[in-house]
Amino acid sequence: MGLFKKKRINEAGKPDFSRLPRHVAIILDGNGRWAKKRGLPRKAGHAVGAETFRTMATYCRDIGIEYLTVYAFSTENWKRPQQEVDAIMKLLEDFLREAVRDLEKNRVRIRILGDLEPLSPELKRMIARTEEESSVYPDAQVNICVNYGGRAEILHAAECFYREHPGHEGSLSEEDLNAYLYTAGMPEPDLLIRPGGECRLSNFLMWQTAYSELYFTDTLWPDFTTDDMDRALVAFQSRDRRFGGVKA
Ligand code: FPP
Repeated sequence: MGLFKKKRINEAGKPDFSRLPRHVAIILDGNGRWAKKRGLPRKAGHAVGAETFRTMATYCRDIGIEYLTVYAFSTENWKRPQQEVDAIMKLLEDFLREAVRDLEKNRVRIRILGDLEPLSPELKRMIARTEEESSVYPDAQVNICVNYGGRAEILHAAECFYREHPGHEGSLSEEDLNAYLYTAGMPEPDLLIRPGGECRLSNFLMWQTAYSELYFTDTLWPDFTTDDMDRALVAFQSRDRRFGGVKA
């Protein structure tokens, strides 16, 4: 039977849209190589990658995925040439400007997750505005991780907890920590997709992906299509999730 179990997957090899993951996370990888293959500057790859992100956010919303979280800029990405960093920040600004303009059409809540402190005042202002104005759309949410690192997030959450609970005695529970993560109140990712051929997490959502299904593909992010997303969803639906238990 393989992947295409008749009861679960429809004839065209499409996922079963009645049992989609609630939360999909994606590492946006392969933009640089996509550009290099075409003799273009790396920032051209990021620009097409940002377009692909828009397409995927729309697709996920349309098929009923509640949360989409993407890794757009890590705490380590500051090491890249200034020109490339500036280009990525500019793409974020463009996206936020557009998001505020098209809020009513898109009806998607937008959150930016990470340590926003080093971002430019203009970007911080745009983030605050987008988050506030989009918060009235609860059905679909897109999280963009910016200056994000999974280990830093865990340390930050623990620090916040102890700052707000001075003298806390006893151990720190998972619930305590969860409440101070950037993802507080959200379900954990059911599926994590990494395009671009690398098979690692690169410090993305280290806490939240403990039980996520991982899907790796060689497709470079700018080439990623809704068919690639469908393939990832079909693969997800063929997995047997036991969360450490045994099958009933
Ligand atoms: C990784 O590919 C990609 C990034 C570090 C940047 C991703 C950012 C965007 C797509 C734009 C952000 C904007 C929005 C709106 C989400 P890489 O450059 O490491 O690729 P490579 O491994 O092929 O060099």
